Amino acid sequence: MQCSWKSMVLLALASIAIQYTAIRTFSAKPLSLLSSVGLAPTDGAVNCSLKDLTRLGRETAEGTDRGCSEILSHTPSLSLTSENNSKRTHILILATTRSGSSFVGQLFNQHPEVFYLFEPLYHVQLALLPRLSQSRNLAERRVMLGAARDLLRSLYNCHLKSLEGYIRPRPANHSTDKLFRRGASQSLCTRPVCEASLGPEEQSLVLTDEGECVRKCGPLNVLLAADACRAKRHAAIKTVRIPQISDLRALIEDPKLNLKVVQLVRDPRGILASRIETFRDTYRLWRLWRATGRRPHNLNLGQINTVCEDFLRSVSTGLSRPAWLRGRYMLLRYEDLARFPLQKTRELYSFLGLVLDHNVEDWIINNTRGTSDLSSRQKFTTVRDSAANAENWRVKLSFDMVAYTQTACQPLLNLLGYKTVFHPRELRNFSHSLVEDRTFLPFF
Ligand SMILES: *[C@@H]1O[C@H](CO)[C@@H](O)[C@H](O)[C@H]1NC(C)=O
Ligand SMILES: *[C@@H]1O[C@H](CO)[C@@H](O)[C@H](O)[C@H]1NC(C)=O
Ligand SMILES: *[C@@H]1O[C@H](CO)[C@@H](O)[C@H](O)[C@H]1NC(C)=O
Ligand SMILES: *[C@@H]1O[C@H](CO)[C@@H](O)[C@H](O)[C@H]1NC(C)=O
Repeated sequence: MQCSWKSMVLLALASIAIQYTAIRTFSAKPLSLLSSVGLAPTDGAVNCSLKDLTRLGRETAEGTDRGCSEILSHTPSLSLTSENNSKRTHILILATTRSGSSFVGQLFNQHPEVFYLFEPLYHVQLALLPRLSQSRNLAERRVMLGAARDLLRSLYNCHLKSLEGYIRPRPANHSTDKLFRRGASQSLCTRPVCEASLGPEEQSLVLTDEGECVRKCGPLNVLLAADACRAKRHAAIKTVRIPQISDLRALIEDPKLNLKVVQLVRDPRGILASRIETFRDTYRLWRLWRATGRRPHNLNLGQINTVCEDFLRSVSTGLSRPAWLRGRYMLLRYEDLARFPLQKTRELYSFLGLVLDHNVEDWIINNTRGTSDLSSRQKFTTVRDSAANAENWRVKLSFDMVAYTQTACQPLLNLLGYKTVFHPRELRNFSHSLVEDRTFLPFF
């Protein structure tokens, strides 16, 4: 029993790897051909980088924050897109757990023209690597990432059926009540996807929390969800299951996909404090350290090291501005978003070339003034004072824990402009900001 189960999993992994390689081989050529001949319609960024690099390079270096395609679309002779910029934009929020990604997700979820999915890759991980969520094994990781990339591509194209193969138990008749965090996605909680029966006077549903959506809407019909996806102009996906930006290169380089990545980063000390509260079992030894004041000998530093290594690699890649990231990468510090939510959201939308909707602005205003008390029910909600929350690690970690984390993550702290503290007094003194003022301009 045990043995056959294992060989089945191995066989499945191997066949996925082979399929994935085959797909890559077939799809790589036509795509690069298309773009080099300029057949890929409205591919502003790529064509721009080939034709107008020198001219635009000057302009962007002189500080205009207009993108390549934006400049092109305002230049009649070169214009490849209609004035409406009707091109579908695909957004990926690249994050890690407890870095504020639910909050950033809402900045798209609240937009009426964006189809938003909260962590669909959860199902890939669960199906392929049930017990190996922290796996650093290279072969397993490669298989996982290959499958994740394929699924992302399908989902952006609204082929939501691709997700069914990963959902357990497998949906019957395209219907499931097991989609992870379905309630976090507005499109999946409104009609026609949500089939809740309405009272005679009710014009529409106003669902106030995720649980209510799941209770009232009935099982999710994947085909209806796919229709809802196609009805929206853009799509956004949030994930904490892609370690590094380079893991997405194949998708970013696909001009047909028009993928733009928002990499969300946060001070690793803040991530640590938040994870200790949230993932109580996994971070048990850290809690013990905090309670006793003594570092347990068998403390697993790997968890925080992984965060810092992945951030460091991604951010170094992003800031080195390789050609394949031109117009496709923006770095966002959670702390900046927490302090200046409206301003940062406007920058975000401007980078994406999308029009900011008043619903998003209203949502920000409503949700950045709440209280910051953390009841366990609120663990995953975003409804609380974001600015206070971004900084509260300074009273939740002991100075020793902070010092230890700083040592492990020093290069990253320097790169992102998070200040090291040398004394407990400095740590608790909230008039002393630990976030350097830095501007990370998007790369056009
Ligand atoms: C541009 O958008 C407006 C309003 O959304 C629409 O009325 C108009 O027909 C569109 N024009 C083109 C060229 O697509
Ligand atoms: C499957 O779903 C469709 C539409 O939701 C429904 O009409 C049909 O009766 C269902 N079939 C079964 C076997 O449940
Ligand atoms: C903001 O809060 C007001 C008052 O509670 C509510 O009427 C409105 O629907 C909220 N808007 C959003 C976008 O959450
Ligand atoms: C707190 O930080 C501010 C700004 O750096 C400084 O002026 C002040 O003296 C500090 N207070 C204490 C009690 O250390």
